[in-house]
Amino acid sequence: MDMLGATRSSGRLAGLPDSHFIDGGWAAAAAGAMMETCDPGSASPHARFAAGDAEDVARAVDSAARAFPVWSRALPRERGKVLSRAAELVRQDAERLAIAEVLDSGKTLAEARGDVAGAARTFDYYAGAADKNEGRSFPLGENYTSFSVNEPVGVSAHIIPWNYPLSPAARSIAPALAAGCTVVAKPAEQTPMTALILAELLHRAGLPAGACNVVTGTGAAVGAPLAADRRVRHITFTGSTATGIGVMAAAARNVASVTLELGGKSPNIVLADCDIGLAVENVAGAIFENAGQICSAGSRLVIERALHTEFIERLRKRVRALRLGHGLADGIDFGAISSAEHLKKIAGYVEGAKARGVEIVTGGNATVDPATGRGWFFEPTILDGMAWDDPVVQEEIFGPVLVVQPVDDVDEAIAAANCTDLALVAGVFTRDISKALRAAREVDAGQVYVNEYFAGGIETPFGGNRRSGIGREKGLIALASYSKTKSVTIRI
Ligand code: NAI
Ligand code: MG
Repeated sequence: MDMLGATRSSGRLAGLPDSHFIDGGWAAAAAGAMMETCDPGSASPHARFAAGDAEDVARAVDSAARAFPVWSRALPRERGKVLSRAAELVRQDAERLAIAEVLDSGKTLAEARGDVAGAARTFDYYAGAADKNEGRSFPLGENYTSFSVNEPVGVSAHIIPWNYPLSPAARSIAPALAAGCTVVAKPAEQTPMTALILAELLHRAGLPAGACNVVTGTGAAVGAPLAADRRVRHITFTGSTATGIGVMAAAARNVASVTLELGGKSPNIVLADCDIGLAVENVAGAIFENAGQICSAGSRLVIERALHTEFIERLRKRVRALRLGHGLADGIDFGAISSAEHLKKIAGYVEGAKARGVEIVTGGNATVDPATGRGWFFEPTILDGMAWDDPVVQEEIFGPVLVVQPVDDVDEAIAAANCTDLALVAGVFTRDISKALRAAREVDAGQVYVNEYFAGGIETPFGGNRRSGIGREKGLIALASYSKTKSVTIRI
């Protein structure tokens, strides 16, 4: 039986790691403690892993600090070659990574395969960037030569969420290594597996021992001591705004820099002149992909009233066609919610809206996999006619819940789009280039997608404004987070 068949029948994937990856090898937790990770699609544990603590973090940071002089002095093109081999190894191990991701996170296999392909592409991209982190020269006239070099900042920490376990790991570890930094990563306790597998693949690709370490465990036991470690010079964090603020405060005590990718409540602006079929597909994908557990999900539909009734009807039909179930089952396009705790949070928001008399267009309930009667699921849900100050408009639900804000015209659409404290992304659907460019200019967001939600790739910078975060990942700009500029000026 192949790997997928065997995992489907046993509910487990053989050979998953159960230790930290420190100093180039597997390392049991110093205190010997273990935790369980659950398969959200069946609501049952599928594997055990190391429950780390501050002692494990100290060992990992020690090893990253020892590896720093080795890795930072490797020829940039040699660093690139290691990242290139890592991309190839990720592709060779794609099926195992994807199945592990489904078991840990509950997403569908198609989504997980896409994430793994994206991770390989990320390593390819930063492989090519390793020898292009160029300095500049400065015009001081003929009596001076002045230039800058980009030096790696040192040990970098990477705190990773559970909704996309492999993607943010790859997109922050790859540029850090390309720039010459070493890495200590902490995956979310709900989804530890793919970061561990990735660390071993990087080691097999030729990374020196200690250049990439992964310590598993809870945010309090592992994340907090990692964020507070004096030897960590940059922290890249993806997760909730509340935890991100704490990480930034910890970094401040050490005058370390941070990249924070935090929450979103991103508007999808649909204007009456749009291609309706295209907009329906994109609005559905923007909120129901990964069961809405995406920081950049299009969780608010801001729609011109002239199109409102027709659009909602077509969207409802589209959403009702979604096939919900275990991520490893055939023909599924809507997976599970990460944890029982998170499912409760989503249901709480929708119950609150119901109690306030909000109109439920479709969905609205927690549910189970119809094939097994198990798992943590929430129906794809649309709430219509929202007041702008309603909690489900203002707060990130982080689940498959779309809230609809009808507006009269493009001016009101822009105002509605900007009505929350979060400013991560925005979508705009229109055939009018002027309206598209106006929205792109006036909506506060780190990225704007016109006529294709989630458009872009590893080449395009990504990050949030205001309470959605600080700093940018992806693109060549990400190298700046892991580099410090030194200027050298010579009197001739
Ligand atoms: P969280 O922000 O607490 O967890 C994210 C990561 O931070 C995990 O690896 C966690 O172990 C770690 N962490 C937790 N406490 C820490 C601490 N004190 N110091 C250092 N690291 C720490 O998010 P959580 O509790 O899993 O989910 C809460 C809410 O956050 C969700 O309901 C969702 O709304 C939002 N969220 C947003 C994400 C995004 O991509 N923007 C990703 C995950 C959650
Ligand atoms: Mg938490």
